[in-house]
Amino acid sequence: MGHQAVGLFSANRKIPMVEVIRHSPELMELRIPYTSSKTQFNFFLASDIHLDNPKCKRKLFAKHLNEMQEKGGKALFFGDLLCLMQGKKDRRGDKSSIRPEHLAGNYFDVVFEEAAEFLKPWAKDIVMIGDGNHETAIINHNEVNPLRHVSRMLQAHGSKCEHMGYQGFVWFTFYQKGGDDAHPKQEKVRRLTLAFHHGAWGGVVSKGINGGMRYFSIFPSANIVVNGHNHERTIVEHPCHSVMNSGEVFTDVRYHCQLGTYKEEFRGGGGFAVEKIVMPKAIGGIVMSLRPRLSSGVEIVLQPAV
Ligand SMILES: [Fe+2]
Repeated sequence: MGHQAVGLFSANRKIPMVEVIRHSPELMELRIPYTSSKTQFNFFLASDIHLDNPKCKRKLFAKHLNEMQEKGGKALFFGDLLCLMQGKKDRRGDKSSIRPEHLAGNYFDVVFEEAAEFLKPWAKDIVMIGDGNHETAIINHNEVNPLRHVSRMLQAHGSKCEHMGYQGFVWFTFYQKGGDDAHPKQEKVRRLTLAFHHGAWGGVVSKGINGGMRYFSIFPSANIVVNGHNHERTIVEHPCHSVMNSGEVFTDVRYHCQLGTYKEEFRGGGGFAVEKIVMPKAIGGIVMSLRPRLSSGVEIVLQPAV
């Protein structure tokens, strides 16, 4: 657990160093100083990239990462960054589903190294990499932790990324420091809580949106819940009604986001997706823009990355 500082840029100018703090296995925090409640901060949320799969739309993923950087944003990945199904003990293996550069006796090493090399241009702006079922399957069957290796390689390229688990919380904490003479308690803080779970539920018909209610019953304090896994991309608002200690009653927004995929596997007239998944899936992640409000809370704008 520790503190790490990374530069964060707003749309127009450099913001002082931002801390990436790992409080516990399940909680990390981005502490972001701000000077104006008009400033918007951008974050690119993606999952199910399956980067090592030949069907991954790498050019689109790179485009979205470039746009994240141009907006001065940061990127967070929520599982299945890698596919990892072509190890020699893996019954899911398929000789047509391996990228030629991964044909090697040390298959896992080569995939981890090639993934880190691909992500290198954006390493400094990737702040979180979480596990998905494709990564935990490798831990369970091969006793290798894929994203621990990839995150270490990215850290060697200057990334401050935190390797998170399958489920957890991210605090986005915007703060304004008091004056030099001010008591630390005078610091103004605007915090958003994001809860994530790589995913467990499908939703060929419902597109997984019914999972939103279940996730908010699990994570009642979250402003945003994110899941991946089912390769659907949805943004559904779940407003809630609350009473504060002051007695003031208020209605606040909460969002359930599903992040889509970068693996296009429905084309070609056959294969697993056509036979089993049956539906084409949404391609691309979600751009989350946050603005610390003047009065209280954080304004949230969510849109599909296209
Ligand atoms: Fe998954």
